[in-house]
Amino acid sequence: MGEIREENVLLYGADYNPEQWLSYPEILEEDIRLMKLAKVNTVSLGIFSWAVLEPEEGNYNLDYMEEIINRLYKNGISVNLATPTGAMPNWLTHTYPEVLQTAENGIRNIPGKRHNFCYTSPIMREKMGKMNRKLSERFGKHPGVIMWHISNEYGGNFRDASCHCELCQEAFREWLKEKYQTLDKLNQAWWTAFWSHTYTDWSQIHSPMPHGEDALHGQNLDWRRFVSYKLQEFCREEIKAIRVFSDKPVTANMMRYFEPLDYDRWKDDLDVISWDSYPDWHTMEDEVPIAVWAAFMHNQMRSFKKMPFILMESTPSLVNWKQENNVKRPGMNYLSSMQAVAHGADGVMYFQWRKSRGSFEKFHGAVVGHDGTEHTRVFKEVKQIGEDFTKISEKVIGTCNSSKVALIMDWENWWAFKDAAGISKSINYEEELQKYYRGFWELGIETDVISMDHDLSSYKLVVAPLLYLYKPGYAEKVEDFVKNGGTYLATYWSGQVNETDLCFLGKKPLEEMLGIFIEEIDVGNEYFTNDADYQGKTYPLGVLRELVNPQGAEVRGTYLKDYVAGMPVITKNAYGKGYAYYLAAQPDRELLIDLYKELCETAGVTANIPDVLPYGVTVSKRSDRDGKKEIYFLQNFNRQPVEMTLRDFYRDIVTGKDVNGCIKLDTYECLILEKQ
Ligand code: GAL
Repeated sequence: MGEIREENVLLYGADYNPEQWLSYPEILEEDIRLMKLAKVNTVSLGIFSWAVLEPEEGNYNLDYMEEIINRLYKNGISVNLATPTGAMPNWLTHTYPEVLQTAENGIRNIPGKRHNFCYTSPIMREKMGKMNRKLSERFGKHPGVIMWHISNEYGGNFRDASCHCELCQEAFREWLKEKYQTLDKLNQAWWTAFWSHTYTDWSQIHSPMPHGEDALHGQNLDWRRFVSYKLQEFCREEIKAIRVFSDKPVTANMMRYFEPLDYDRWKDDLDVISWDSYPDWHTMEDEVPIAVWAAFMHNQMRSFKKMPFILMESTPSLVNWKQENNVKRPGMNYLSSMQAVAHGADGVMYFQWRKSRGSFEKFHGAVVGHDGTEHTRVFKEVKQIGEDFTKISEKVIGTCNSSKVALIMDWENWWAFKDAAGISKSINYEEELQKYYRGFWELGIETDVISMDHDLSSYKLVVAPLLYLYKPGYAEKVEDFVKNGGTYLATYWSGQVNETDLCFLGKKPLEEMLGIFIEEIDVGNEYFTNDADYQGKTYPLGVLRELVNPQGAEVRGTYLKDYVAGMPVITKNAYGKGYAYYLAAQPDRELLIDLYKELCETAGVTANIPDVLPYGVTVSKRSDRDGKKEIYFLQNFNRQPVEMTLRDFYRDIVTGKDVNGCIKLDTYECLILEKQ
């Protein structure tokens, strides 16, 4: 990301909403002083500014924006300039109701809130295009504007992000016609003979709705693809309008585990990947599951393009939209900001710079509160991070994490998985994936998070949990990977359906490579539990358990109870130069960690540092391409200090102190080290 700014510094700043304060000029002046004090070097500007930028149709008011950008620039603060489609002005929704989304009950929204436009509406696209071109023409070459922030959290309002209006219904039908060409092919692909749902005319097809058709899994899957594609198309049009006058990099802030949008496809339209992270710190008996939640997402973001990303939003204290909104306790903002950098972020930004005075987010955390001063715990911690960022920037910029392990997470699989009535309801795909990632996090092993479409050849170990749907060509790619020396782990509930959600008939893909025959799956309960024996140790198993027959594979672990006693839970099969493992039942944390140790040994994967990590401590490593720079981030997520022993000699790049031997990590401490 070196190209997005002149200086090699980690971006540090916040969403800035000066349009809320235009009648308070003294506050706008004071903002600059406080930003400089906190070492803020970038702000995201104009995210929800449409009503000020275009107060009435066709009447643009960009002068105030120029004044603000100039003032920031003069003070060394760059701008990540937003296109304002995150929220629509009332004149637009009032004059052209078609721009409003229609919910899945078929009722069109009335104006209000945000993230609720119809992405198919030609009028919305036209008005957006005009606005974006104006912004680009005026500010696209301004030296203070370093990046474009396209819209805000696309799809963020609705549960499924979709609009069900007539324009969208028609566009869906057109999209299907292009995809299937004939209704016969569509009927086959969706298995419509089931319940007599055969389509005989394209006009009979509607979006899935609770009061209509939502039982054809192939149709549901295609609708989800269509919605994701349509929003992506809208985003592309936004970028196209910006590109008329500006070639500055574009980003669009993504969201946590956001199911409706296939970000893995979107990544190619964006120059810089960014996301908004709001973990539930301090809400569980320890912070590890939360740290893993955030770390998984950070890794996915950096894996999209295999380059650094930006943490575009995070709160310096609390949010206001959860059931319970606790503050980040002292030290946690520091640790979670450094965690992002540890996992590949080249920038950390907050929502929001200054607390709004009224309306929905007036009690949401901000760098500057209603008191308007720097004399708060939150401001001081923000400032501390800013100061330390300036100390580590030079070392960190130009590095990123590099991984020999990949975990597969795929949106199309996620969508199909959710629909698999009977089995999938008992588990949650995103939570399961975090459990699989957690093992690597606890062992301090770098892990990329990639989709089924990625190239596997740079990895030594690929773990593919719950990969229920195989996209065309995926199985062949995995076979090549293993043949060429890779180690692969497949799990229960994998390879069941093809890309239109039809079950594979006969032998399942990859069964031969795995050396097994997968017979049936059970969803156990508290009366029928089971345990596994793996290499002489006993581990409790979760509810999903498969009956699997070895067909050439070595049995590494078995069931201990019930009618499956003695049958395989873990198998290993030599295939070409590599090994294919299968895990037939839901493991607990310890079984996964022990299995990962075997997998890493088989694959020749090592941890970031050779030392034993205490519980709650992990280590990430960023390095440059030629391996000259190696930065280690040792993070303690425990609510108390811990001790550990470091075999090698390091220097703390923040304090300059030597670090070696038996060390103490304070509560929520993050040490940033280089080897001596
Ligand atoms: C984000 C959104 C921001 C702000 C924030 C509050 O989802 O992009 O505008 O509302 O949540 O946590």
